[in-house]
Amino acid sequence: MKQIYFLTPFPDVVNAVVSESILGRAEKKEFVKFYTKNLFDFSDPPHHRIDDYPFGGGAGMVLKPEPVFRAINEVVEELPAVSKPRVVFPTPDGHILTHEMAINLSKSDSIIFINGHYKGIDQRIRDELVTDEISIGDYVLTGGELPSLVILDAVIRLIPGVLNSYESAETDSFSHALLDCPHYTRPESYKGLESPSVLLSGNHKEIEDWKNNRRQEKTRDRRPDLWEKYKKIEDGKKSYE
Ligand code: 6GU
Repeated sequence: MKQIYFLTPFPDVVNAVVSESILGRAEKKEFVKFYTKNLFDFSDPPHHRIDDYPFGGGAGMVLKPEPVFRAINEVVEELPAVSKPRVVFPTPDGHILTHEMAINLSKSDSIIFINGHYKGIDQRIRDELVTDEISIGDYVLTGGELPSLVILDAVIRLIPGVLNSYESAETDSFSHALLDCPHYTRPESYKGLESPSVLLSGNHKEIEDWKNNRRQEKTRDRRPDLWEKYKKIEDGKKSYE
Protein backbone atom coordinates (compact mmCIF):
# COMPACT_ATOMS: atom_id res chain seq x y z
CA MET A 1 0.00 0.00 0.00
CA LYS A 2 1.31 3.43 -0.97
CA GLN A 3 1.72 5.97 1.83
CA ILE A 4 0.98 9.58 0.87
CA TYR A 5 1.69 12.46 3.26
CA PHE A 6 0.76 16.12 2.99
CA LEU A 7 2.57 18.71 5.10
CA THR A 8 0.30 21.73 5.02
CA PRO A 9 -1.11 24.62 7.07
CA PHE A 10 -4.55 23.63 5.68
CA PRO A 11 -5.10 19.90 6.24
CA ASP A 12 -8.89 20.28 5.88
CA VAL A 13 -8.53 21.31 2.24
CA VAL A 14 -6.54 18.17 1.47
CA ASN A 15 -8.72 15.83 3.56
CA ALA A 16 -11.91 17.06 1.86
CA VAL A 17 -10.54 16.05 -1.55
CA VAL A 18 -8.80 12.75 -0.77
CA SER A 19 -11.81 11.33 1.11
CA GLU A 20 -14.18 11.51 -1.88
CA SER A 21 -14.57 10.06 -5.37
CA ILE A 22 -11.88 7.85 -6.89
CA LEU A 23 -9.16 8.92 -4.42
CA GLY A 24 -11.45 8.05 -1.49
CA ARG A 25 -12.32 4.72 -3.09
CA ALA A 26 -8.60 3.97 -3.68
CA GLU A 27 -7.99 4.44 0.05
CA LYS A 28 -10.99 2.26 1.04
CA LYS A 29 -9.68 -0.47 -1.27
CA GLU A 30 -6.28 -0.14 0.46
CA PHE A 31 -4.24 0.77 -2.61
CA VAL A 32 -3.11 3.87 -0.78
CA LYS A 33 -3.28 5.58 2.60
CA PHE A 34 -3.42 9.37 2.98
CA TYR A 35 -2.04 11.31 5.95
CA THR A 36 -1.98 15.03 6.65
CA LYS A 37 0.38 16.81 9.03
CA ASN A 38 -0.49 20.32 10.09
CA LEU A 39 2.69 22.42 9.84
CA PHE A 40 1.52 24.57 12.78
CA ASP A 41 1.88 21.49 15.03
CA PHE A 42 5.64 21.63 14.36
CA SER A 43 6.09 25.35 15.06
CA ASP A 44 7.64 26.92 18.18
CA PRO A 45 5.72 28.52 21.03
CA PRO A 46 4.75 31.13 22.01
CA HIS A 47 3.89 32.54 18.55
CA HIS A 48 3.74 29.34 16.49
CA ARG A 49 4.87 31.10 13.35
CA ILE A 50 5.58 28.97 10.32
CA ASP A 51 6.59 31.87 8.02
CA ASP A 52 8.83 34.92 8.32
CA TYR A 53 10.19 37.89 6.38
CA PRO A 54 12.71 37.12 3.62
CA PHE A 55 16.39 37.87 4.27
CA GLY A 56 17.49 40.57 1.86
CA GLY A 57 13.97 42.01 1.66
CA GLY A 58 11.34 41.67 -1.03
CA ALA A 59 7.64 40.97 -1.15
CA GLY A 60 5.91 38.03 0.51
CA MET A 61 6.69 35.66 3.35
CA VAL A 62 8.92 32.59 3.38
CA LEU A 63 8.05 29.24 4.98
CA LYS A 64 10.49 28.63 7.87
CA PRO A 65 12.74 25.57 7.83
CA GLU A 66 12.08 24.21 11.35
CA PRO A 67 8.42 23.10 10.97
CA VAL A 68 9.17 21.33 7.69
CA PHE A 69 12.35 19.56 8.88
CA ARG A 70 10.53 18.40 12.05
CA ALA A 71 7.44 17.23 10.16
CA ILE A 72 9.56 15.28 7.66
CA ASN A 73 11.49 13.66 10.51
CA GLU A 74 8.23 12.50 12.04
CA VAL A 75 7.01 11.11 8.70
CA VAL A 76 10.28 9.26 8.11
CA GLU A 77 9.93 7.65 11.55
CA GLU A 78 6.40 6.51 10.68
CA LEU A 79 7.44 4.99 7.35
CA PRO A 80 9.08 1.55 7.08
CA ALA A 81 12.87 1.86 7.40
CA VAL A 82 13.37 0.64 3.81
CA SER A 83 11.05 3.27 2.37
CA LYS A 84 12.73 5.94 0.25
CA PRO A 85 10.02 8.61 0.08
CA ARG A 86 9.85 11.03 -2.82
CA VAL A 87 9.52 14.53 -1.39
CA VAL A 88 7.53 16.67 -3.81
CA PHE A 89 7.48 20.46 -3.63
CA PRO A 90 4.88 21.93 -6.02
CA THR A 91 6.17 25.28 -7.22
CA PRO A 92 5.68 27.48 -10.30
CA ASP A 93 9.48 27.37 -10.86
CA GLY A 94 9.53 23.54 -10.95
CA HIS A 95 9.66 21.10 -13.90
CA ILE A 96 6.33 21.03 -15.76
CA LEU A 97 4.26 17.96 -14.84
CA THR A 98 4.00 15.32 -17.58
CA HIS A 99 2.41 11.89 -17.94
CA GLU A 100 5.90 10.35 -17.75
CA MET A 101 6.56 12.09 -14.42
CA ALA A 102 3.23 10.78 -13.09
CA ILE A 103 4.18 7.21 -14.15
CA ASN A 104 7.55 7.60 -12.48
CA LEU A 105 6.02 8.87 -9.21
CA SER A 106 3.40 6.09 -9.26
CA LYS A 107 6.23 3.56 -8.83
CA SER A 108 7.31 5.00 -5.49
CA ASP A 109 5.95 3.40 -2.29
CA SER A 110 5.74 6.71 -0.43
CA ILE A 111 5.34 10.37 -1.39
CA ILE A 112 5.48 13.45 0.84
CA PHE A 113 3.99 16.70 -0.52
CA ILE A 114 5.17 19.98 1.02
CA ASN A 115 2.61 22.79 0.70
CA GLY A 116 2.86 26.45 1.48
CA HIS A 117 0.86 29.60 0.88
CA TYR A 118 3.89 31.82 0.79
CA LYS A 119 6.15 33.61 -1.62
CA GLY A 120 8.41 30.65 -1.22
CA ILE A 121 9.99 28.23 1.18
CA ASP A 122 13.43 28.48 2.73
CA GLN A 123 15.93 27.23 0.14
CA ARG A 124 17.53 24.88 2.70
CA ILE A 125 14.34 22.79 2.66
CA ARG A 126 14.65 22.46 -1.09
CA ASP A 127 18.37 21.69 -0.96
CA GLU A 128 18.22 19.11 1.84
CA LEU A 129 14.80 17.46 1.66
CA VAL A 130 13.00 17.94 -1.65
CA THR A 131 13.52 15.31 -4.40
CA ASP A 132 11.02 16.64 -6.99
CA GLU A 133 10.11 20.28 -7.75
CA ILE A 134 7.01 20.25 -9.95
CA SER A 135 4.91 22.96 -11.63
CA ILE A 136 1.47 22.21 -13.04
CA GLY A 137 1.69 24.86 -15.78
CA ASP A 138 2.65 28.40 -16.68
CA TYR A 139 0.26 30.35 -14.46
CA VAL A 140 0.38 31.18 -10.77
CA LEU A 141 -1.92 29.80 -8.05
CA THR A 142 -2.30 31.03 -4.47
CA GLY A 143 -0.91 27.93 -2.78
CA GLY A 144 0.46 24.44 -3.10
CA GLU A 145 -2.56 22.39 -2.00
CA LEU A 146 -4.37 22.38 -5.35
CA PRO A 147 -1.21 21.61 -7.36
CA SER A 148 -0.36 18.79 -4.90
CA LEU A 149 -3.81 17.34 -5.36
CA VAL A 150 -3.51 17.62 -9.14
CA ILE A 151 -0.19 15.77 -9.09
CA LEU A 152 -1.61 13.20 -6.66
CA ASP A 153 -4.68 12.57 -8.81
CA ALA A 154 -2.54 12.02 -11.92
CA VAL A 155 -0.38 9.54 -9.98
CA ILE A 156 -3.04 7.56 -8.07
CA ARG A 157 -5.14 6.74 -11.14
CA LEU A 158 -2.11 4.96 -12.65
CA ILE A 159 -1.86 2.40 -9.82
CA PRO A 160 -3.11 -0.92 -11.28
CA GLY A 161 -6.59 -1.67 -9.89
CA VAL A 162 -7.47 1.89 -8.84
CA LEU A 163 -9.53 2.50 -11.98
CA ASN A 164 -12.16 0.03 -13.13
CA SER A 165 -12.16 -1.01 -16.79
CA TYR A 166 -14.66 1.72 -17.71
CA GLU A 167 -12.33 4.37 -16.31
CA SER A 168 -9.30 2.72 -17.89
CA ALA A 169 -6.15 4.83 -18.11
CA GLU A 170 -4.96 2.88 -21.19
CA THR A 171 -6.80 4.95 -23.78
CA ASP A 172 -6.33 8.41 -22.21
CA SER A 173 -4.88 11.33 -24.00
CA PHE A 174 -1.07 11.09 -23.55
CA SER A 175 -0.95 7.33 -22.94
CA HIS A 176 -0.34 6.86 -26.70
CA ALA A 177 1.13 10.26 -27.59
CA LEU A 178 -2.15 11.44 -29.19
CA LEU A 179 -5.04 13.42 -27.68
CA ASP A 180 -8.29 11.59 -27.04
CA CYS A 181 -11.08 11.25 -29.64
CA PRO A 182 -14.70 12.49 -29.18
CA HIS A 183 -17.12 10.22 -27.28
CA TYR A 184 -20.88 9.67 -27.67
CA THR A 185 -23.52 7.77 -25.71
CA ARG A 186 -27.31 7.28 -25.79
CA PRO A 187 -29.51 8.76 -27.07
CA GLU A 188 -28.27 8.28 -30.62
CA SER A 189 -30.10 11.48 -31.64
CA TYR A 190 -30.55 14.34 -29.16
CA LYS A 191 -32.60 17.42 -30.19
CA GLY A 192 -31.60 16.71 -33.77
CA LEU A 193 -27.91 16.36 -32.87
CA GLU A 194 -26.74 13.04 -34.32
CA SER A 195 -24.00 10.69 -33.15
CA PRO A 196 -21.58 9.66 -35.92
CA SER A 197 -23.19 6.66 -37.63
CA VAL A 198 -19.87 4.84 -38.01
CA LEU A 199 -19.76 4.35 -34.22
CA LEU A 200 -23.05 2.42 -34.44
CA SER A 201 -22.05 0.42 -37.53
CA GLY A 202 -20.55 -2.53 -35.66
CA ASN A 203 -17.60 -2.45 -38.08
CA HIS A 204 -14.63 -2.52 -35.70
CA LYS A 205 -12.03 -1.68 -38.31
CA GLU A 206 -13.98 1.40 -39.47
CA ILE A 207 -14.62 2.46 -35.89
CA GLU A 208 -10.94 2.22 -34.99
CA ASP A 209 -9.97 4.15 -38.15
CA TRP A 210 -12.52 6.87 -37.32
CA LYS A 211 -11.24 7.20 -33.75
CA ASN A 212 -7.64 7.29 -34.90
CA ASN A 213 -8.35 9.96 -37.51
CA ARG A 214 -10.13 12.17 -34.96
CA ARG A 215 -7.24 11.77 -32.52
CA GLN A 216 -4.72 12.69 -35.19
CA GLU A 217 -6.76 15.71 -36.37
CA LYS A 218 -7.18 17.05 -32.85
CA THR A 219 -3.51 16.55 -31.98
CA ARG A 220 -2.32 18.23 -35.21
CA ASP A 221 -4.68 21.17 -34.56
CA ARG A 222 -4.15 21.79 -30.89
CA ARG A 223 -0.73 20.41 -30.06
CA PRO A 224 1.83 20.70 -32.87
CA ASP A 225 4.49 19.75 -30.28
CA LEU A 226 2.83 16.38 -29.55
CA TRP A 227 2.10 15.84 -33.25
CA GLU A 228 5.81 16.11 -34.11
CA LYS A 229 6.62 13.62 -31.32
CA TYR A 230 3.91 11.23 -32.57
CA LYS A 231 5.17 11.36 -36.16
CA LYS A 232 8.71 10.53 -35.01
CA ILE A 233 7.39 7.48 -33.08
CA GLU A 234 5.37 6.31 -36.12
CA ASP A 235 8.37 6.80 -38.46
CA GLY A 236 10.46 4.73 -36.04
CA LYS A 237 7.88 1.92 -36.14
CA LYS A 238 7.80 1.96 -39.98
CA SER A 239 11.56 1.55 -40.25
CA TYR A 240 11.21 -1.74 -38.30
CA GLU A 241 8.62 -3.12 -40.74
CL1 6GU B 1 3.03 23.90 -8.33
N1 6GU B 1 2.18 26.20 -7.34
C1 6GU B 1 1.65 27.42 -7.47
N2 6GU B 1 1.47 28.17 -6.39
N3 6GU B 1 1.28 27.92 -8.63
C2 6GU B 1 1.46 27.15 -9.69
C3 6GU B 1 2.01 25.88 -9.64
C4 6GU B 1 2.37 25.42 -8.43
N4 6GU B 1 2.07 25.36 -10.88
C5 6GU B 1 1.56 26.29 -11.67
N5 6GU B 1 1.21 27.37 -10.96
